[in-house]
Amino acid sequence: MTVTTIERLAEHTDQTVTLRGWVYNRTSKGKLHFVMLRDGTGFVQCVLFKKDVPEELFEAVSRAGQESSIELVGEVKADERAPGGYEIKVTGGRIYQLVEEYPITPKEHGPDFLLSRRHLWLRSRRQWAVLRIRDAVITSIRSFFDERGFVCIDSPVFTPAACEGTSTLFEVDYFGDEKAYLTQSGQLYAEASAMGFGKVYCFGPTFRAEKSKTRRHLTEFWMLEPEVAFADLDDIMQLAEDLVVRIVQDVLRRRRPELEALERNLATLEKIQGGFPRMTYEEASQILLDHPKSEFVAGDDFGAPDETILSALHDQPVMITHYPKAIKAFYMKEDADDPTKVACVDMIAPEGVGEIIGGSQREEDLDKLLASIAAHELPAEEFDWYLDLRRFGSVPHSGFGLGLERVVGWIAGIEHVREASPYPRMMSRIRP
Ligand code: 4AD
Ligand code: MG
Repeated sequence: MTVTTIERLAEHTDQTVTLRGWVYNRTSKGKLHFVMLRDGTGFVQCVLFKKDVPEELFEAVSRAGQESSIELVGEVKADERAPGGYEIKVTGGRIYQLVEEYPITPKEHGPDFLLSRRHLWLRSRRQWAVLRIRDAVITSIRSFFDERGFVCIDSPVFTPAACEGTSTLFEVDYFGDEKAYLTQSGQLYAEASAMGFGKVYCFGPTFRAEKSKTRRHLTEFWMLEPEVAFADLDDIMQLAEDLVVRIVQDVLRRRRPELEALERNLATLEKIQGGFPRMTYEEASQILLDHPKSEFVAGDDFGAPDETILSALHDQPVMITHYPKAIKAFYMKEDADDPTKVACVDMIAPEGVGEIIGGSQREEDLDKLLASIAAHELPAEEFDWYLDLRRFGSVPHSGFGLGLERVVGWIAGIEHVREASPYPRMMSRIRP
């Protein structure tokens, strides 16, 4: 008997197949059971007529509550009215485990209730859709860079110093005497890797002790960080734009049922075609200063409401460049035309999502970098290895970081990034 999965039913029309999964929903009337089966790849309605199946199976299914584990054998029937386009006419099967009183029911539950049961919640259709979109985004990213000749060189998670400012560091005890921190960004190591391999990326978990309880912040999130030797700001802005266009296209192509399950507005995603609007920090500031609802103060970093105003002006992500040096990280290269600014870019996604990418050209001059480390009051000793990159064959180079959960959240059209992480970590939550 052919064992298959729900996503491959189209290959088996009018054949008899075996499906293994869990009862997502069941309704019974008299001599008929309708089982909505989920197997991780999709959802399909299975119809059990009393007369067509063994008596024990029919009886057992009448007691099968939500999430009972089950194997069903039946004929695959194309049916336009059925969700997913197919229905299974069941002829046999077996129960693995009968379940009663599964804690997450189709009724509405609050976010705390669900987050405390994340290990079960991810079986729900909406979570299934979001996490399969996340998977497609990851695959898309890796293929994009592989096709362009990038080498994946991962950065360590334990680090002896800060990359993105000292206020959001998680400290860990490293065998007593040594202090270590969980990395905030793999960038400094990616820069070293770029000098070894030319075009690289690292892609892994990063950590921020952010005391902000916003819908955009996690304490543990995944960051993709490409770094390119001999690239300037314009080069990596183009790279970032190409990447984002590619990710959206791949998800539209590979995850249609998931986007539909989320009732995502596909027309807004289909507009992401490239040619992203660009503006400088000064231009963006002027828009905000002229905006009646903005509380923006000249010279400050943009807050979430500011980003929402700026991104609402366009259908595509906006790229904002040349922020004041004073509000950006120590490694950013000074702007050649204005020493108060740096050659950096933030990409702001539409629909109120905010910043999804932050990047820059890096300061390649040893003395300027030393001065910047001092100005940021960072411990120079810890950066000595990093300064070697400016001592031995220093070249212009640039890179950026893309927050995976923010990108997934935007594409999936969900309110809060926590649903874009399989097991989200936030200020008030590390369980389950
Ligand atoms: O802008 P950030 O802080 O940039 C860096 O860390 C650079 N070192 C990256 C680089 O140039 N290689 O972070 C990059 C992205 C942000 O644009 C955002 O998408 C995401 O990481 N991000 C977070 N996502 C979820 N929760 C948080 N607390 C995040 N902080 C940053
Ligand atoms: Mg940033």
